[in-house]
Amino acid sequence: MNVKGKSILITGAGGGLGSVMASLLAENGAQVLILDMDAQKGQAAADEISARGLKAWFFPMDVTSEDDWKAAIDFALEKTGRVDVVVNNAGINIRKPVEEMTIDEWCTMMKVNTGSVFLGCKYAIPVMRRQGGGCFINTSSVCGLIGHKYTPEAYTASKGAVTMLTKAIASRYARDGIRSNSIHPSTVYTPLVETLFKDPQRKAERLGEVPLGRLATAEDVANAVLYLASEEASFINGVSLPVDGGVTCY
Ligand SMILES: NC(=O)c1ccc[n+]([C@@H]2O[C@H](COP(=O)([O-])OP(=O)(O)OC[C@H]3O[C@@H](n4cnc5c(N)ncnc54)[C@H](O)[C@@H]3O)[C@@H](O)[C@H]2O)c1
Repeated sequence: MNVKGKSILITGAGGGLGSVMASLLAENGAQVLILDMDAQKGQAAADEISARGLKAWFFPMDVTSEDDWKAAIDFALEKTGRVDVVVNNAGINIRKPVEEMTIDEWCTMMKVNTGSVFLGCKYAIPVMRRQGGGCFINTSSVCGLIGHKYTPEAYTASKGAVTMLTKAIASRYARDGIRSNSIHPSTVYTPLVETLFKDPQRKAERLGEVPLGRLATAEDVANAVLYLASEEASFINGVSLPVDGGVTCY
């Protein structure tokens, strides 16, 4: 997949899925801007990539702040001269069902999971338009496609909004050479899941819903991002791409 030289901003890339995306994109020749509110993790992720002779920088930011977005875009332009791809990946989950959640918690979920994507697009689009094109990859979830009974409703609503915001941007800004797609991972195998899986019933429930019979890996998700960011995906626009082993098939 050709992403050589592309300037790619990734939010939430200090850890989790974002750091694996950053690493894979850099290995394939991209210039990677790691954006995260956790300065320690973000700097360490950038240092690890740079130490391999690849191109990565860290910029500390809160994805819900307009000022931080303006500064992050300026930082990317200063380092690479371009903003080719923005991966709006940072997200949170307040794990409470709807009847236990406060309106403030609801608003926080919406602000971080959905507002951040809105801001990332708002501040990158003018730069992409000037350049003659660009690309957004927004991390939604299987919960942006289906109502998932194990997941907080606020998370589902916030990710559903990301799905449709992605399509709306794909439709309006294609004429400026800007593509916009979303990815929809199912549960990814992490240390947190390992704890959850100590309970055999929960393990059986979670694995039982995946036709391919295993959880996603961070690499599965990063490979989808690599494709959507690449030249090979130049006619792919407005797609909601599940990375879920078939969870959303039925
Ligand atoms: N892990 C999964 O199973 C899974 C499944 C489907 C979708 N997702 C989505 O994938 C994305 C990444 O998830 P993850 O599992 O890697 O999460 P994670 O918690 O491991 O990492 C998220 C990163 O985002 C950063 N972050 C959080 N709020 C921020 C803010 N306001 N400003 C800047 N940075 C902020 C954190 O510091 C952290 O480094 C999220 O949008 C999540 O909803 C995850």
